[in-house]
Amino acid sequence: MIILGIETTCDETAAAVVSRTAEGRGQILSNVILSQISEHAEFGGVVPEIAARAHVEALDHIIAKAMAEAKVSFESLDGVAAAAGPGLIGGVIVGLTTAKAIALAHGKPLIAVNHLEAHALTARLTDATPFPYCLFLASGGHTQILGVRGVGDYLRLGGTVDDAIGEAFDKTAKLLGLGYPGGPLVEKEAARGDAARFALPRPMAGRRDADFSLSGLKTALRIEAQKIAPLSDQDVADLCASFQQAVVDVVKDRLRSGLRMFRLRVGNPTALVCAGGVAANQAIRKVLHRVAFEIGAELVAPPPALCTDNGAMIAWAGAERLALGLTDPLDVAPRARWPLDEVAATARTGR
Ligand code: KG4
Ligand code: ZN
Repeated sequence: MIILGIETTCDETAAAVVSRTAEGRGQILSNVILSQISEHAEFGGVVPEIAARAHVEALDHIIAKAMAEAKVSFESLDGVAAAAGPGLIGGVIVGLTTAKAIALAHGKPLIAVNHLEAHALTARLTDATPFPYCLFLASGGHTQILGVRGVGDYLRLGGTVDDAIGEAFDKTAKLLGLGYPGGPLVEKEAARGDAARFALPRPMAGRRDADFSLSGLKTALRIEAQKIAPLSDQDVADLCASFQQAVVDVVKDRLRSGLRMFRLRVGNPTALVCAGGVAANQAIRKVLHRVAFEIGAELVAPPPALCTDNGAMIAWAGAERLALGLTDPLDVAPRARWPLDEVAATARTGR
């Protein structure tokens, strides 16, 4: 089975071609990504209008490149998949409409993929991870702990009630004048800072649920920074280290709680899987290893290029769904909001 996948929900314009054997083994034939980071950098975050326009300009070329690199023709595809949400609606419309046009013109099935489902299933493309597993998804737009029981069968165990973790890193970087995207810059500063200098809160820690809240942490950091302004280089490093340590502690506590819920409601997970740009952070990676070790599960961490937004994960989720006979009508609607627990393993009408 050969599937084209299109991703345009945020600030990456991406297309990929992925194959899947009848036994469920995946292979990436091409994976082309165009990042818009430079177009959003001066604003310190993604500007939806700029993103949508950039997707329109780039997408046809990116798809042509993905098809050429995979050496396949539209005729030889078994299906066309696009992220139909959740995300910035302008971008989602661009990607989904393009997929519909290709599917219609070439008489191929359309698969409207939930972007979060694509993150959730990536471990099966890279590591053939069996169900059920626990997913920690942490990016600029999402922070969730999920039970992945099967294709279309997700149990949301916890999530953020305000900012995503990556967003909190980005806002911290902006506040400290470090640039965008903030995660890698804050991590770099933290490496030479004193994590014990500022007493920042560990929001939600100790609660029985597996939810996150990060906006209070961000505010606490701002107050500490204002108290000692103007900031020296060492102040910035110490603030970053203290912030990162607080996030690490929160992730440890919330994941332990999420895994406890997983075992009560699903059973023993085959693995703890991470996804999203935040998983690139070494301190966070370390704590993920630790909580996985505590429950005797393996930590599955797909390579960074497949943890962050990409077309291969959309194509793969499309392949997994098509293998179950799940396709979507050409009038399926794009969705800005689309919680994963609404993604049933049944054909949707999109209405
Ligand atoms: O998954 P991703 O590439 O894009 C989406 O948000 O969908 O994640 C990007 C996010 C940004 O917020 C970025 O600051 C964060 O992941 N990030 C990091 C690190 N690298 C990227 N956060 C903390 N530490 C890092 N090393
Ligand atoms: Zn994503």
